Parts: sequence; structure tokens; C-alpha cells
Amino acid sequence: MNRKRPEDLRSHRWLGVSDLRSFGHRSRLRQFGYDAEDWGGRPVIGIVNTWSEINACHAHLRARAENVKRGVLQAGGFPIELPAMSLAEPFVKPSTMLYRNFLAMEAEELLRSHPIDGAVLLGGCDKTTPGLVMGAISMGIPAIYVPAGPMLRGNWHGEYLGSGSDVWKYWMEKQAGNITEAQWSEMESGIARSFGTCMVMGTAATMMAIAEALGLTLPGASSIPAADAGHPRMCGVAGRRIVDMVWEDLTLDKIITPAAVDNAIKVHMAMGGSTNAIIHVVAMARRAGIALDMQRFDQISREIPVLANVRPSGKYLMEDFFYAGGLRALMRQLAGKLDLSCMTVTGKSVGENIADAQVYLPDVIHSLADPIYGEGATAVLKGNLAPRGCVMKPAAADQRFLRHRGPALAFEDYNHMAREVERDDLAVTPDHVLVLKNAGPKGGPGMPEWGMLPIPKKLVKAGVRDMVRISDGRMSGTSYGACILHVAPESYVGGPLAFVKTGDEIEIDVDQRRIHLHVADDELARRRSAWTPPAPHYLRGYGAMFSAHIGQADEGCDFDFLAGTARTAEPEIH
Ligand code: FES
Repeated sequence: MNRKRPEDLRSHRWLGVSDLRSFGHRSRLRQFGYDAEDWGGRPVIGIVNTWSEINACHAHLRARAENVKRGVLQAGGFPIELPAMSLAEPFVKPSTMLYRNFLAMEAEELLRSHPIDGAVLLGGCDKTTPGLVMGAISMGIPAIYVPAGPMLRGNWHGEYLGSGSDVWKYWMEKQAGNITEAQWSEMESGIARSFGTCMVMGTAATMMAIAEALGLTLPGASSIPAADAGHPRMCGVAGRRIVDMVWEDLTLDKIITPAAVDNAIKVHMAMGGSTNAIIHVVAMARRAGIALDMQRFDQISREIPVLANVRPSGKYLMEDFFYAGGLRALMRQLAGKLDLSCMTVTGKSVGENIADAQVYLPDVIHSLADPIYGEGATAVLKGNLAPRGCVMKPAAADQRFLRHRGPALAFEDYNHMAREVERDDLAVTPDHVLVLKNAGPKGGPGMPEWGMLPIPKKLVKAGVRDMVRISDGRMSGTSYGACILHVAPESYVGGPLAFVKTGDEIEIDVDQRRIHLHVADDELARRRSAWTPPAPHYLRGYGAMFSAHIGQADEGCDFDFLAGTARTAEPEIH
């Protein structure tokens, strides 16, 4: 293997030459108290850290950056921590999805504009994984992803509570009068007991696993609970490894190949992963020049069953998944379906990384011969209501809704829906299909996680816990139910969803991957010509830029000017 020489390092242009500007660079490092020995001939490693005081999922990342630095120093590198937008899922409004591409841009430009040779990316809370990875792919230097890891299991009255999933579940019980205010308050204290990401198979756990399956993390890294001592140990190893990756010039384009993307989608299916991952994987793959579309998820979904018995599709939590052997064990179960020759950040193949993995708790990680759900996690439906597709998670739905026909109950936007579902006199039955418009990438804006529409209160009291719900929004990976999401094109830009009226019949058939609005074409054309586009959400600022450049869900919601692989020149240093 051809190893780089110190004068081949990117940072050499800033620090290794002798001119007026390099004097400034070096004198400013000396201002920090560093000496020439600290940086001379060493790879500079940028630790892109999404720690912040508003993101409890990342509360440990400040300490973890120090663990990474220890490893970088041991291996002869020079670590520099670079703070980046934190994207705390519970707090950022209207939706973190509005800012995923912002983080991707920030990560890319942080790395490009500074003297950085390799990157360690610290993230985990939903959008931070794809945001950081998209930025690093476009930047093109060696990078390794350090997942924040899941928080510990929630606990309430001796019961395990799962992030999100159990909130939705017990909220409905509270609405139905089965849970008291005091019990609800106790749950608030018990559901999030440590730092780390949501510990169900939500978007965070799904995306961290996908990063590992793509080959971007150390083997097993995505399953380590944030509070486990193995987590800082993993960070130290990542710090040591990135220095060698720089010398080896092991860039992400050598790791993210079509076969690696297929591996990641297979792992997604076997995990029963979040529907959000579809958007992110499409975006990440397209950044790497791989023409991925939603149909590939559907094809793979038909061959890969769900093996991880983790909520919301299954019973356990991510802590149990770790004890059961973690992602390496799950990938070992899938070995016959994966391309084991794919390269990873270790410099070894996927096959080598998982060779000795074992399942310790077979009820948590099932085998292909005994899956927890016979078909994959995700179905992509198409039809006149969603010409470019929409998605559903059949494993998490009441199975009677996988073939269903019922009258629509249409809501023009979230506020309209939120008012109506509270009404005791709402004309709704369990067979109705709830339809929410204006929840898409432009319409939300930012495609918020509104897709698990609340069951109307009147039906909740009558014991109804699932219904068919359709929207152009997303849903939290912790959510469940017969929710059809990501309808493309979205209603805000004049997709057919905009023209649904209450009382229209809607039919879905998951087996046939079909969704159909039973309204004649000429009537739909009449409704379209009477439609006026909604007013823009933003007249200035980032929101206006977002609205002008955001792609639809089936395209991965990247900005048009960020997509693709066109080379960006290295900055001039004058
Ligand atoms: Fe951060 Fe769920 S809120 S991962």
C-alpha cells in the first residue's frame, strides 16, 4: 500500500511551507501553547462535535472528544475539535429535517476551510448521522463516524420504557382515562435515564447502524450504550485508527460503493429500522454518486425479514440488543445476504469484521430461519395518490390494514387536524383513512414527523388504537401504526394529495404495493385547475433558501446545489 508522506498531507499547505501566511498559521497554534513538535509532519484530525447543552443525546460528546483526542495523539496525529450544529431532535422546530442539509454544509465547509487531513464525526441524534456523513462524503477526506450510542433503558414501576414508542402508547391510555396525571409525571422522570440517543429502533439507532453497515464506524460501535465504558474505549480506538486512515488515504469513496449501500439497506430491513432512513440513505448514496431510489428499498424489503426484536416493531430495547451481541451479531446472521468483501474504515472487509460475532440472546436477535416478521421493514407503494411513491412500515401496523379501503377524512394542515381529532362529534369510524396535507419538505416546512396522526379522541375512548393514516410528512422512528408516509410529490407543490376531499374512497394494498384514490381522472383534473398554491412560508433567510432548493422525499431531500459529485476546488491560501 502506498502511504502518504508528510508533505502530501493537506495540512502541509497551511503548516509545512515557509511563507508569510504559514507564519501566521503557526504563530496562532503557538498562541494556543502548541510547539512545532505538536503538529510537525503529523496528520491534523478534525473532530467534528455536535455536543451542545440543549442536546441530552449528545451530553457525553464533550468527554468523548477527549477520548478521541487521546487516541489521535497516541497514533501520532494532531487533534483539533470543531463544534458543529447539534440538531437536538426534541427541541429544534419546526423540524430538525429543516436543518439536516445545513449541518451537512457546515461539516463539509468546516473540513474544507481548515487545515484538516482526516475527520472523526461525533453524532447520533437523528439527523446528525446523515448530516455529518453527507458533508464528509462531499468533502472527500478520510473520515470515521463515532456514534453517540443509545441511552439506557427507561424504567417505570419495574417496566422498561422505550423512547417515543411508550410515550405515544401511554399518551393514548391517558387520553382514554387509564393513566393518572401522577403516573404520567413519574414516566417523565423515568423514560430518559442517561445521556445517549433514543434507545428504541428509532431514526437514531437505525442511522447509527446504517453508518456501521456502510463501513463508516468501527465494528460494533453503533450498538454500544452511551453510558457503557466500552463507549469511551471505542472513541480512543477511533482516534488511533483515523490517523492511519490518513496515511493510507482511505477515503470514503473507497468504502461507500453500491454494494455497501445494499448492505446498509439489508441491515436496515433486518433491524426493522425507521422509515426516515430511506430519505437519508438516498441522500447519502447520491452524494457518493450512486443513483439510489426508493424502489431498491422495496426490492430488498422482499428478501430480508426483520431479525431484531426491538421496539417499535418488536419487544426489546437497544441495551438488550447490545447484550445480545449487537450489530456485528445481526450482520453475522445476515452474512449469506451481504457482500462481505466491502471495505470498511478498519482497512478490513465487512466479512473480516464480523467473522467471530455471535448471538448471545436469540430472542433479541433472531435468525433468518426464525424471523420476528417474515417480510422486510418497509414497503414502497405507488399509485395515483403517490405517483413518485410513498412508504409504510408493515411490521409496525395492525395487520388488518395491509389491505384496506375506506373513506378519507382530509385535513388541510396540522392545526386543522389537531382541532378536529379532539371533537367528540367528529364523523369518523375506525375504517376511515385520515389524510394530512401540507406536511412535506416544502409544505411542513421541513417534512416534520407528523405522520403518526393522532387517533381521534372519540375512537381512542372506544378502544381504537390503529387506523390508516396518510401524509406527505415523516414519522418518528419510534412511532408505529398503519401510517403511510413521504407521499411524493407533496401536496404543497400540487401533488395529488392536495386534491383529496373528505369522503373520497382510498384503497391500499401492501401486497400489491398499491395506493389508489377512487376519484375519476377528469374530476381530479377539475380539482387541480381550481387549486391555488399556498403562500410561501419564508420571504428571506435560510428558510427561503431551503424552500428554493429542497428536493422531494423520493430524491432524499437534498439541496439541488449540494447533490452530486462535482469536485470543489481546495481553497487558495494567499
Ligand atoms: Fe436524540 Fe431521539 S431525541 S435520538
